[in-house]
Amino acid sequence: VDKIGVVILAAGQGTRLKVEMAKPMVPLRGRRLVDYPLKAALDFLEATGPGRIGIVLGHKKEELRSYLDDNYAHVNLTFAIQAQQNGTADAIKAYLKDCSWAKDCEYTLVLCADTPLLTKDIFASLMSRMEGEKLQAIAASFETRKPTGYGRIVRGSPGFKIVEEKDATPQERNIQEVNSGLYLLKTEYLLSKIEGINSVNASGEFYLTDIFDEASRVEALCFDDELSFLGVNNLAQLATSGEVLNERKCLDLMLNGVFVTAPKQSYIEDDVKIGSGTIIAAGCSLSGKTTIAKNVVIENGAVIKDSEIDEGSQILAHSYLEQAKVGAMSSVGPFARLRPGTILHKKVKIGNFVETKKATLMDEAKVSHLSYVGDAEIGKRTNLGCGFITCNYDGANKHFTKIGDDCFVGSDSQIIAPVTIGDRSFIAAASTVTQSVQDESFVISRGKQTTKPGLAKKFLKLP
Ligand code: UD1
Ligand code: MG
Repeated sequence: VDKIGVVILAAGQGTRLKVEMAKPMVPLRGRRLVDYPLKAALDFLEATGPGRIGIVLGHKKEELRSYLDDNYAHVNLTFAIQAQQNGTADAIKAYLKDCSWAKDCEYTLVLCADTPLLTKDIFASLMSRMEGEKLQAIAASFETRKPTGYGRIVRGSPGFKIVEEKDATPQERNIQEVNSGLYLLKTEYLLSKIEGINSVNASGEFYLTDIFDEASRVEALCFDDELSFLGVNNLAQLATSGEVLNERKCLDLMLNGVFVTAPKQSYIEDDVKIGSGTIIAAGCSLSGKTTIAKNVVIENGAVIKDSEIDEGSQILAHSYLEQAKVGAMSSVGPFARLRPGTILHKKVKIGNFVETKKATLMDEAKVSHLSYVGDAEIGKRTNLGCGFITCNYDGANKHFTKIGDDCFVGSDSQIIAPVTIGDRSFIAAASTVTQSVQDESFVISRGKQTTKPGLAKKFLKLP
Protein backbone atom coordinates (compact mmCIF):
# COMPACT_ATOMS: atom_id res chain seq x y z
CA VAL A 1 0.00 0.00 0.00
CA ASP A 2 1.35 3.40 -0.98
CA LYS A 3 1.55 6.23 1.48
CA ILE A 4 0.56 9.00 -0.90
CA GLY A 5 -1.78 9.13 -3.87
CA VAL A 6 -1.32 12.25 -5.96
CA VAL A 7 -4.13 13.38 -8.21
CA ILE A 8 -3.55 16.02 -10.87
CA LEU A 9 -6.72 17.61 -12.17
CA ALA A 10 -6.37 18.19 -15.89
CA ALA A 11 -9.84 17.71 -17.35
CA GLY A 12 -10.95 21.32 -17.54
CA GLN A 13 -11.37 23.19 -20.78
CA GLY A 14 -9.24 26.26 -20.24
CA THR A 15 -11.46 28.52 -22.37
CA ARG A 16 -9.86 31.70 -21.02
CA LEU A 17 -6.59 30.87 -22.78
CA LYS A 18 -8.20 31.46 -26.19
CA VAL A 19 -6.00 28.94 -27.95
CA GLU A 20 -6.96 25.64 -29.57
CA MET A 21 -4.75 23.30 -27.57
CA ALA A 22 -5.64 21.68 -24.27
CA LYS A 23 -4.54 23.87 -21.36
CA PRO A 24 -2.09 21.36 -19.84
CA MET A 25 -0.36 21.20 -23.23
CA VAL A 26 0.46 24.89 -23.67
CA PRO A 27 4.21 25.43 -24.14
CA LEU A 28 6.23 26.70 -21.21
CA ARG A 29 10.02 27.02 -21.34
CA GLY A 30 10.57 24.22 -23.83
CA ARG A 31 8.09 21.92 -22.14
CA ARG A 32 4.35 21.83 -21.51
CA LEU A 33 2.40 23.33 -18.62
CA VAL A 34 1.50 19.92 -17.19
CA ASP A 35 5.17 18.95 -16.88
CA TYR A 36 5.70 21.37 -14.00
CA PRO A 37 3.15 20.18 -11.42
CA LEU A 38 4.00 16.66 -12.50
CA LYS A 39 7.70 17.21 -11.86
CA ALA A 40 6.97 18.77 -8.46
CA ALA A 41 4.85 15.71 -7.58
CA LEU A 42 7.54 13.29 -8.74
CA ASP A 43 10.20 15.16 -6.75
CA PHE A 44 7.97 15.04 -3.68
CA LEU A 45 7.29 11.31 -3.99
CA GLU A 46 10.96 10.62 -4.47
CA ALA A 47 11.69 12.40 -1.19
CA THR A 48 8.65 11.34 0.85
CA GLY A 49 7.00 8.41 -0.99
CA PRO A 50 6.19 5.73 -1.76
CA GLY A 51 3.31 6.99 -3.78
CA ARG A 52 1.58 7.04 -7.13
CA ILE A 53 0.21 9.64 -9.48
CA GLY A 54 -3.19 9.69 -11.17
CA ILE A 55 -4.12 12.25 -13.79
CA VAL A 56 -7.73 13.15 -14.49
CA LEU A 57 -8.28 13.70 -18.20
CA GLY A 58 -11.34 15.08 -19.93
CA HIS A 59 -11.18 17.88 -22.47
CA LYS A 60 -8.84 16.86 -25.37
CA LYS A 61 -7.86 13.77 -23.45
CA GLU A 62 -6.27 11.91 -26.39
CA GLU A 63 -3.76 14.68 -27.07
CA LEU A 64 -2.72 14.88 -23.44
CA ARG A 65 -2.69 11.13 -22.96
CA SER A 66 -0.37 10.52 -25.88
CA TYR A 67 2.00 13.27 -24.75
CA LEU A 68 2.19 11.80 -21.25
CA ASP A 69 2.59 8.24 -22.58
CA ASP A 70 5.49 9.37 -24.75
CA ASN A 71 7.24 11.36 -22.07
CA TYR A 72 6.57 9.50 -18.83
CA ALA A 73 6.79 5.87 -19.88
CA HIS A 74 9.23 5.30 -17.01
CA VAL A 75 7.08 6.57 -14.12
CA ASN A 76 3.90 4.51 -14.15
CA LEU A 77 1.19 7.15 -14.29
CA THR A 78 -2.43 6.11 -14.01
CA PHE A 79 -5.13 7.89 -16.02
CA ALA A 80 -8.69 8.59 -14.99
CA ILE A 81 -11.35 9.87 -17.34
CA GLN A 82 -13.91 12.44 -16.31
CA ALA A 83 -16.58 12.17 -18.99
CA GLN A 84 -18.18 15.54 -18.29
CA GLN A 85 -16.60 18.42 -16.47
CA ASN A 86 -19.08 18.66 -13.62
CA GLY A 87 -16.68 20.19 -11.16
CA THR A 88 -13.61 19.40 -9.12
CA ALA A 89 -15.38 16.97 -6.76
CA ASP A 90 -16.68 15.06 -9.75
CA ALA A 91 -13.11 14.92 -11.11
CA ILE A 92 -11.97 13.39 -7.81
CA LYS A 93 -14.70 10.76 -8.08
CA ALA A 94 -13.33 9.81 -11.49
CA TYR A 95 -9.87 9.50 -9.93
CA LEU A 96 -11.13 7.30 -7.08
CA LYS A 97 -12.99 5.12 -9.55
CA ASP A 98 -10.35 4.71 -12.26
CA CYS A 99 -7.19 4.53 -10.15
CA SER A 100 -7.54 1.17 -8.42
CA TRP A 101 -4.90 2.04 -5.84
CA ALA A 102 -6.25 5.47 -4.90
CA LYS A 103 -8.50 4.46 -2.00
CA ASP A 104 -5.70 2.49 -0.32
CA CYS A 105 -3.26 5.38 -0.03
CA GLU A 106 -3.06 6.87 3.44
CA TYR A 107 -2.95 10.43 2.05
CA THR A 108 -4.31 12.07 -1.08
CA LEU A 109 -2.56 15.13 -2.49
CA VAL A 110 -4.73 17.12 -4.89
CA LEU A 111 -3.23 19.59 -7.33
CA CYS A 112 -4.21 21.28 -10.55
CA ALA A 113 -2.43 20.90 -13.87
CA ASP A 114 -2.28 24.66 -14.29
CA THR A 115 -0.14 25.60 -11.27
CA PRO A 116 3.44 25.36 -12.57
CA LEU A 117 5.14 27.17 -9.69
CA LEU A 118 4.37 24.66 -6.93
CA THR A 119 7.40 22.88 -5.48
CA LYS A 120 8.00 19.73 -3.51
CA ASP A 121 8.86 21.90 -0.49
CA ILE A 122 5.32 23.24 -0.39
CA PHE A 123 3.93 19.69 -0.43
CA ALA A 124 6.40 18.72 2.28
CA SER A 125 5.28 21.56 4.55
CA LEU A 126 1.65 20.44 4.13
CA MET A 127 2.67 16.93 5.09
CA SER A 128 4.62 17.91 8.17
CA ARG A 129 1.79 20.16 9.39
CA MET A 130 -0.71 17.36 8.76
CA GLU A 131 1.28 14.79 10.71
CA GLY A 132 2.28 17.22 13.46
CA GLU A 133 -1.26 18.43 14.16
CA LYS A 134 -3.03 15.13 13.40
CA LEU A 135 -5.33 16.87 10.94
CA GLN A 136 -7.87 15.29 8.60
CA ALA A 137 -7.21 17.67 5.74
CA ILE A 138 -5.30 20.83 4.80
CA ALA A 139 -5.91 23.38 2.10
CA ALA A 140 -3.00 25.62 1.11
CA SER A 141 -4.14 29.24 1.19
CA PHE A 142 -2.54 32.63 0.70
CA GLU A 143 -3.46 36.24 1.19
CA THR A 144 -3.85 38.47 -1.81
CA ARG A 145 -4.96 42.00 -2.51
CA LYS A 146 -6.78 40.73 -5.59
CA PRO A 147 -8.93 37.82 -4.39
CA THR A 148 -11.22 38.01 -7.45
CA GLY A 149 -11.94 34.59 -8.91
CA TYR A 150 -10.65 32.58 -5.98
CA GLY A 151 -12.61 30.70 -3.32
CA ARG A 152 -12.52 32.61 -0.01
CA ILE A 153 -11.38 31.02 3.23
CA VAL A 154 -14.01 31.45 5.95
CA ARG A 155 -12.47 30.42 9.25
CA GLY A 156 -14.49 28.58 11.94
CA SER A 157 -13.45 26.45 14.89
CA PRO A 158 -11.56 24.22 14.67
CA GLY A 159 -12.06 24.10 10.90
CA PHE A 160 -12.97 26.42 8.03
CA LYS A 161 -14.99 26.42 4.86
CA ILE A 162 -14.37 27.66 1.34
CA VAL A 163 -16.91 29.86 -0.36
CA GLU A 164 -16.59 30.25 -4.11
CA GLU A 165 -16.74 33.80 -5.44
CA LYS A 166 -20.06 33.24 -7.17
CA ASP A 167 -21.64 32.03 -3.95
CA ALA A 168 -20.06 34.54 -1.59
CA THR A 169 -21.90 37.26 0.33
CA PRO A 170 -20.51 40.80 -0.02
CA GLN A 171 -18.77 40.42 3.36
CA GLU A 172 -17.22 37.11 2.32
CA ARG A 173 -15.96 38.66 -0.88
CA ASN A 174 -13.91 41.09 1.17
CA ILE A 175 -11.90 38.24 2.64
CA GLN A 176 -8.38 38.32 1.25
CA GLU A 177 -7.33 34.84 2.31
CA VAL A 178 -8.06 32.56 -0.64
CA ASN A 179 -7.94 28.91 -1.58
CA SER A 180 -4.98 27.94 -3.77
CA GLY A 181 -6.58 24.72 -5.02
CA LEU A 182 -3.84 22.57 -3.46
CA TYR A 183 -4.98 20.11 -0.80
CA LEU A 184 -3.57 17.30 1.30
CA LEU A 185 -6.24 14.98 2.67
CA LYS A 186 -6.40 11.84 4.76
CA THR A 187 -7.87 9.49 2.18
CA GLU A 188 -10.27 8.14 4.82
CA TYR A 189 -11.58 11.65 5.35
CA LEU A 190 -11.92 12.25 1.62
CA LEU A 191 -13.89 9.00 1.21
CA SER A 192 -16.19 9.84 4.12
CA LYS A 193 -17.08 13.22 2.60
CA ILE A 194 -16.99 12.95 -1.18
CA GLU A 195 -20.34 11.22 -1.75
CA GLY A 196 -22.13 13.82 0.39
CA ILE A 197 -21.12 16.75 -1.82
CA ASN A 198 -23.97 18.19 -3.86
CA SER A 199 -24.16 20.67 -6.69
CA VAL A 200 -26.50 23.13 -5.03
CA ASN A 201 -24.54 26.31 -5.74
CA ALA A 202 -24.34 29.14 -8.23
CA SER A 203 -22.46 27.07 -10.82
CA GLY A 204 -24.42 23.86 -10.42
CA GLU A 205 -21.07 22.05 -10.10
CA PHE A 206 -19.75 19.57 -7.57
CA TYR A 207 -17.15 21.57 -5.64
CA LEU A 208 -14.30 19.69 -4.06
CA THR A 209 -13.94 22.64 -1.73
CA ASP A 210 -17.09 21.45 0.06
CA ILE A 211 -15.16 18.69 1.78
CA PHE A 212 -13.92 21.29 4.25
CA ASP A 213 -16.16 22.52 7.03
CA GLU A 214 -15.94 24.63 10.12
CA ALA A 215 -16.44 21.73 12.54
CA SER A 216 -13.88 19.20 11.25
CA ARG A 217 -10.20 18.91 12.17
CA VAL A 218 -9.16 20.62 8.97
CA GLU A 219 -6.92 23.62 8.47
CA ALA A 220 -6.19 26.29 5.91
CA LEU A 221 -2.42 26.68 5.97
CA CYS A 222 -1.60 30.19 4.84
CA PHE A 223 1.61 30.62 2.80
CA ASP A 224 3.41 33.99 2.38
CA ASP A 225 4.61 33.18 -1.09
CA GLU A 226 1.56 34.07 -3.14
CA LEU A 227 3.42 33.71 -6.43
CA SER A 228 4.10 29.98 -6.01
CA PHE A 229 0.36 29.31 -6.26
CA LEU A 230 -0.22 31.27 -9.45
CA GLY A 231 -2.75 29.48 -11.63
CA VAL A 232 -2.49 29.83 -15.38
CA ASN A 233 -5.87 30.82 -16.75
CA ASN A 234 -4.68 33.11 -19.55
CA LEU A 235 -1.52 33.67 -21.58
CA ALA A 236 -0.44 36.66 -19.48
CA GLN A 237 -0.32 34.40 -16.42
CA LEU A 238 1.56 31.83 -18.50
CA ALA A 239 4.21 34.48 -19.27
CA THR A 240 4.41 35.48 -15.62
CA SER A 241 4.98 31.91 -14.54
CA GLY A 242 7.68 31.60 -17.20
CA GLU A 243 9.41 34.65 -15.74
CA VAL A 244 9.27 33.25 -12.22
CA LEU A 245 10.70 29.91 -13.36
CA ASN A 246 13.47 31.73 -15.25
CA GLU A 247 14.27 33.81 -12.18
CA ARG A 248 14.52 30.64 -10.09
CA LYS A 249 16.84 29.03 -12.64
CA CYS A 250 19.11 32.09 -12.86
CA LEU A 251 19.25 32.39 -9.08
CA ASP A 252 20.29 28.78 -8.76
CA LEU A 253 23.06 29.34 -11.35
CA MET A 254 24.28 32.51 -9.65
CA LEU A 255 24.45 30.76 -6.29
CA ASN A 256 26.63 28.16 -7.98
CA GLY A 257 29.21 30.54 -9.37
CA VAL A 258 27.80 31.47 -12.76
CA PHE A 259 27.98 35.17 -13.67
CA VAL A 260 24.49 35.74 -15.00
CA THR A 261 25.00 39.43 -15.61
CA ALA A 262 21.40 40.34 -16.49
CA PRO A 263 19.11 37.58 -15.20
CA LYS A 264 15.89 39.31 -16.23
CA GLN A 265 17.16 39.56 -19.81
CA SER A 266 18.54 36.05 -20.14
CA TYR A 267 16.40 33.07 -20.99
CA ILE A 268 17.82 29.88 -19.53
CA GLU A 269 15.81 26.66 -19.56
CA ASP A 270 15.81 24.28 -16.63
CA ASP A 271 17.85 21.46 -18.16
CA VAL A 272 20.73 23.75 -19.14
CA LYS A 273 23.90 23.05 -17.15
CA ILE A 274 26.53 25.75 -16.70
CA GLY A 275 29.89 25.52 -14.93
CA SER A 276 31.25 28.03 -12.45
CA GLY A 277 33.17 31.04 -13.63
CA THR A 278 31.18 31.19 -16.85
CA ILE A 279 29.81 34.58 -17.88
CA ILE A 280 26.38 34.85 -19.46
CA ALA A 281 25.76 38.31 -20.92
CA ALA A 282 22.36 39.93 -21.43
CA GLY A 283 19.96 38.71 -24.06
CA CYS A 284 21.15 35.11 -24.35
CA SER A 285 18.77 32.25 -24.96
CA LEU A 286 20.07 28.90 -23.70
CA SER A 287 17.73 26.01 -24.18
CA GLY A 288 17.16 22.28 -24.36
CA LYS A 289 19.90 19.92 -23.29
CA THR A 290 22.67 22.46 -23.43
CA THR A 291 25.81 22.01 -21.37
CA ILE A 292 28.28 24.83 -20.89
CA ALA A 293 31.51 24.09 -19.03
CA LYS A 294 33.51 26.27 -16.64
CA ASN A 295 35.03 29.63 -17.55
CA VAL A 296 33.18 30.10 -20.80
CA VAL A 297 32.08 33.50 -22.06
CA ILE A 298 28.71 33.76 -23.76
CA GLU A 299 28.28 37.23 -25.19
CA ASN A 300 25.09 39.17 -25.75
CA GLY A 301 22.33 37.74 -27.82
CA ALA A 302 23.76 34.26 -28.34
CA VAL A 303 21.13 31.59 -29.04
CA ILE A 304 22.26 28.11 -28.01
CA LYS A 305 20.06 25.02 -28.35
CA ASP A 306 20.96 21.44 -27.39
CA SER A 307 24.68 22.16 -27.64
CA GLU A 308 27.83 21.50 -25.68
CA ILE A 309 30.50 24.13 -25.03
CA ASP A 310 33.77 23.09 -23.41
CA GLU A 311 35.96 24.90 -20.94
CA GLY A 312 37.48 28.26 -21.73
CA SER A 313 35.63 28.82 -25.00
CA GLN A 314 33.86 31.96 -26.05
CA ILE A 315 30.68 32.36 -28.01
CA LEU A 316 30.65 35.93 -29.23
CA ALA A 317 27.63 38.15 -29.69
CA HIS A 318 24.62 37.07 -31.74
CA SER A 319 25.83 33.61 -32.67
CA TYR A 320 23.29 30.85 -33.23
CA LEU A 321 24.16 27.27 -32.26
CA GLU A 322 21.99 24.21 -32.63
CA GLN A 323 23.09 20.64 -31.79
CA ALA A 324 26.70 21.70 -32.01
CA LYS A 325 29.78 20.80 -29.98
CA VAL A 326 32.42 23.37 -29.27
CA GLY A 327 35.73 22.03 -27.93
CA ALA A 328 37.82 23.71 -25.26
CA MET A 329 39.44 27.13 -25.84
CA SER A 330 37.57 27.72 -29.08
CA SER A 331 36.10 30.97 -30.29
CA VAL A 332 32.85 31.30 -32.23
CA GLY A 333 31.34 34.43 -33.73
CA PRO A 334 30.28 37.16 -33.53
CA PHE A 335 27.38 36.38 -35.88
CA ALA A 336 28.28 32.76 -36.53
CA ARG A 337 25.82 29.97 -37.19
CA LEU A 338 26.66 26.43 -36.13
CA ARG A 339 24.02 24.06 -37.42
CA PRO A 340 23.36 20.46 -36.31
CA GLY A 341 26.28 18.08 -36.52
CA THR A 342 28.96 20.72 -36.13
CA ILE A 343 31.86 19.44 -34.04
CA LEU A 344 34.68 21.79 -33.19
CA HIS A 345 37.69 20.21 -31.54
CA LYS A 346 40.06 22.29 -29.37
CA LYS A 347 41.16 25.88 -30.06
CA VAL A 348 39.09 26.15 -33.22
CA LYS A 349 38.25 29.59 -34.51
CA ILE A 350 34.98 30.35 -36.28
CA GLY A 351 34.62 34.02 -37.17
CA ASN A 352 31.81 36.30 -38.28
CA PHE A 353 29.25 35.26 -40.89
CA VAL A 354 30.43 31.68 -41.00
CA GLU A 355 27.90 28.85 -41.31
CA THR A 356 28.76 25.23 -40.55
CA LYS A 357 26.68 22.06 -40.82
CA LYS A 358 27.69 18.42 -40.27
CA ALA A 359 31.25 19.66 -40.15
CA THR A 360 34.13 18.51 -38.01
CA LEU A 361 36.95 20.95 -37.50
CA MET A 362 40.06 19.51 -35.90
CA ASP A 363 42.28 21.28 -33.35
CA GLU A 364 43.26 24.85 -34.20
CA ALA A 365 41.45 24.93 -37.54
CA LYS A 366 40.38 28.45 -38.50
CA VAL A 367 37.51 29.80 -40.57
CA SER A 368 37.56 33.46 -39.80
CA HIS A 369 35.14 35.15 -42.18
CA LEU A 370 32.13 34.72 -44.45
CA SER A 371 32.21 31.02 -45.25
CA TYR A 372 30.06 27.92 -45.56
CA VAL A 373 31.45 24.61 -44.36
CA GLY A 374 28.95 21.76 -44.75
CA ASP A 375 29.43 17.98 -44.88
CA ALA A 376 33.12 18.40 -44.30
CA GLU A 377 36.13 17.53 -42.21
CA ILE A 378 38.84 20.15 -41.85
CA GLY A 379 42.23 19.06 -40.52
CA LYS A 380 44.38 20.40 -37.70
CA ARG A 381 45.75 23.93 -38.04
CA THR A 382 44.20 24.31 -41.48
CA ASN A 383 43.17 27.84 -42.38
CA LEU A 384 40.20 28.51 -44.62
CA GLY A 385 40.33 32.02 -46.04
CA CYS A 386 37.52 34.52 -46.33
CA GLY A 387 34.67 33.50 -48.58
CA PHE A 388 35.45 29.78 -48.62
CA ILE A 389 32.55 27.55 -49.70
CA THR A 390 31.99 23.82 -49.72
CA CYS A 391 29.65 23.26 -52.68
CA ASN A 392 28.20 20.18 -51.02
CA TYR A 393 24.85 19.90 -52.76
CA ASP A 394 24.31 19.08 -56.42
CA GLY A 395 20.56 19.55 -56.32
CA ALA A 396 19.91 15.92 -55.48
CA ASN A 397 22.58 14.67 -53.09
CA LYS A 398 25.00 15.96 -50.48
CA HIS A 399 28.71 15.26 -50.94
CA PHE A 400 31.64 15.24 -48.57
CA THR A 401 34.74 17.42 -48.47
CA LYS A 402 37.85 16.42 -46.58
CA ILE A 403 40.73 18.81 -46.19
CA GLY A 404 43.83 17.50 -44.40
CA ASP A 405 46.04 18.96 -41.67
CA ASP A 406 48.15 22.12 -42.03
CA CYS A 407 46.57 23.27 -45.28
CA PHE A 408 46.20 26.84 -46.45
CA VAL A 409 43.08 27.58 -48.46
CA GLY A 410 43.12 31.03 -50.03
CA SER A 411 40.15 33.38 -49.93
CA ASP A 412 37.20 32.99 -52.25
CA SER A 413 37.85 29.32 -52.97
CA GLN A 414 35.18 26.73 -53.57
CA ILE A 415 35.31 22.98 -53.28
CA ILE A 416 32.91 21.18 -55.61
CA ALA A 417 32.40 18.09 -53.44
CA PRO A 418 33.19 15.25 -53.26
CA VAL A 419 36.84 16.23 -52.96
CA THR A 420 39.69 15.21 -50.70
CA ILE A 421 42.67 17.53 -50.21
CA GLY A 422 45.81 15.93 -48.77
CA ASP A 423 47.76 17.28 -45.78
CA ARG A 424 50.00 20.37 -46.14
CA SER A 425 48.39 21.43 -49.41
CA PHE A 426 48.08 24.99 -50.63
CA ILE A 427 45.01 26.17 -52.55
CA ALA A 428 45.56 29.52 -54.19
CA ALA A 429 42.96 32.22 -53.67
CA ALA A 430 39.88 32.23 -55.92
CA SER A 431 40.30 28.60 -56.96
CA THR A 432 37.43 26.33 -57.85
CA VAL A 433 38.55 22.85 -56.84
CA THR A 434 36.87 19.91 -58.53
CA GLN A 435 39.46 17.16 -58.18
CA SER A 436 41.05 15.50 -55.18
CA VAL A 437 44.75 16.12 -54.61
CA GLN A 438 47.40 14.28 -52.64
CA ASP A 439 49.50 15.59 -49.74
CA GLU A 440 51.65 18.71 -50.31
CA SER A 441 49.93 19.76 -53.53
CA PHE A 442 49.74 23.30 -54.80
CA VAL A 443 46.41 23.99 -56.54
CA ILE A 444 45.46 27.01 -58.56
CA SER A 445 42.43 27.21 -60.84
CA ARG A 446 41.40 30.68 -61.87
CA GLY A 447 41.13 32.69 -65.10
CA LYS A 448 44.36 34.37 -66.32
CA GLN A 449 44.46 38.15 -65.83
CA THR A 450 44.33 40.41 -68.89
CA THR A 451 45.50 44.04 -68.52
CA LYS A 452 44.97 46.86 -71.08
CA PRO A 453 46.66 50.04 -69.90
CA GLY A 454 44.57 53.18 -70.41
CA LEU A 455 41.38 51.42 -71.43
CA ALA A 456 39.54 52.14 -68.16
CA LYS A 457 38.42 55.60 -69.30
CA LYS A 458 36.27 54.00 -71.96
CA PHE A 459 34.11 52.51 -69.21
CA LEU A 460 34.31 55.11 -66.44
CA LYS A 461 32.31 58.31 -66.50
CA LEU A 462 34.67 60.45 -64.48
CA PRO A 463 33.73 64.05 -63.49
C1 UD1 B 1 -10.78 26.38 -7.99
C2 UD1 B 1 -11.36 26.33 -6.57
C3 UD1 B 1 -11.20 27.68 -5.91
C4 UD1 B 1 -9.73 28.07 -5.92
C5 UD1 B 1 -9.16 28.03 -7.32
C6 UD1 B 1 -7.66 28.20 -7.27
C7 UD1 B 1 -13.22 24.74 -6.71
C8 UD1 B 1 -14.68 24.57 -6.71
N1 UD1 B 1 -12.76 25.97 -6.63
O1 UD1 B 1 -11.55 27.30 -8.74
O2 UD1 B 1 -11.67 27.66 -4.58
O3 UD1 B 1 -9.57 29.36 -5.35
O4 UD1 B 1 -9.41 26.74 -7.94
O5 UD1 B 1 -7.12 28.31 -8.58
O6 UD1 B 1 -12.51 23.76 -6.76
N2 UD1 B 1 -11.16 20.47 -13.35
C9 UD1 B 1 -11.45 19.18 -13.72
N3 UD1 B 1 -12.75 18.81 -13.88
C10 UD1 B 1 -13.78 19.67 -13.67
C11 UD1 B 1 -13.47 21.00 -13.29
C12 UD1 B 1 -12.16 21.36 -13.13
O7 UD1 B 1 -10.55 18.36 -13.92
O8 UD1 B 1 -14.94 19.26 -13.82
C13 UD1 B 1 -9.76 20.84 -13.18
C14 UD1 B 1 -9.32 21.96 -14.11
O9 UD1 B 1 -8.71 21.41 -15.28
C15 UD1 B 1 -8.28 22.69 -13.27
C16 UD1 B 1 -8.76 22.46 -11.84
O10 UD1 B 1 -9.63 21.36 -11.87
O11 UD1 B 1 -6.98 22.13 -13.42
C17 UD1 B 1 -9.44 23.67 -11.22
O12 UD1 B 1 -10.61 24.00 -11.99
P1 UD1 B 1 -11.03 25.49 -12.30
O13 UD1 B 1 -12.25 25.45 -13.10
O14 UD1 B 1 -9.86 26.24 -12.83
O15 UD1 B 1 -11.40 25.99 -10.82
P2 UD1 B 1 -11.43 27.48 -10.36
O16 UD1 B 1 -12.69 28.12 -10.80
O17 UD1 B 1 -10.15 28.14 -10.71
MG1 MG C 1 -8.51 27.74 -12.14
